[in-house]
Amino acid sequence: MPDEVPVTADTMTPAARPAVTDRPILKVLAQRWSARAIDPSRAVSRAQVTTVLEAARWAPSSGNAQPWRYLVFDASVPQALDRARACLSRGNAWAYRAPVLLLSLVDRYWPDSDDLNPRALHDVGAASLSLCIQAVSDGLVAHQMAGFDSALARVRFAIPDRMDPVAFIALGHPGPIDLLDDRRRERERAPRRRRPVQQSAFVGGWGGSGVTA
Ligand SMILES: Cc1cc2nc3c(=O)[nH]c(=O)nc-3n(C[C@H](O)[C@H](O)[C@H](O)COP(=O)(O)O)c2cc1C
Repeated sequence: MPDEVPVTADTMTPAARPAVTDRPILKVLAQRWSARAIDPSRAVSRAQVTTVLEAARWAPSSGNAQPWRYLVFDASVPQALDRARACLSRGNAWAYRAPVLLLSLVDRYWPDSDDLNPRALHDVGAASLSLCIQAVSDGLVAHQMAGFDSALARVRFAIPDRMDPVAFIALGHPGPIDLLDDRRRERERAPRRRRPVQQSAFVGGWGGSGVTA
């Protein structure tokens, strides 16, 4: 087990970087962000993992197809955790500190069918966001990552042909920002940015006026 990492004022808790929203939204949504400073000394229990997976379970999906699957990598099978870490791109090396890695998979087809489910990827995203929101609510960090070697993951973890790996999710407890290199530290402190709603939502059709209060 690595040395205990002290919790300091610079620990990147969910509350450390709330979204500055134009309208009031649920606190847990504003507090969700993709932190990279994860405390390597604090384990995430199997009960905590099961809880976030339960949140994913209750996501809505087209035809209730539930096209998501999750592979779980933790200290219970250290070789698999090492192999999962080795699938991550170099830019995601910060995630090696996470005691748990999840890998979301999509079943591209309707259950027990060879017909493609065109909304499958959408629904995996919905399930993973539910998972992340539950994690924030439980005081955990959940950070999704597309930066990984998908072909390698498929082979290493015997992922069936009808499924595709979608995203790794680093799960852990928030840690001090000092764990990160200078560049990443700066990114963690940078203002969080989003397009305004009126540039994403339009009344009456494409080209309609942007939605405002
Ligand atoms: C599907 C997906 C893939 C992502 N891939 C990565 C990644 O490989 N590495 C990383 O550091 N962050 C990754 N992110 C995090 C995004 O960069 C982050 O969600 C975005 O910048 C918005 O910031 P926020 O989540 O803190 O609000 C990913 C997020 C999603 C949803």
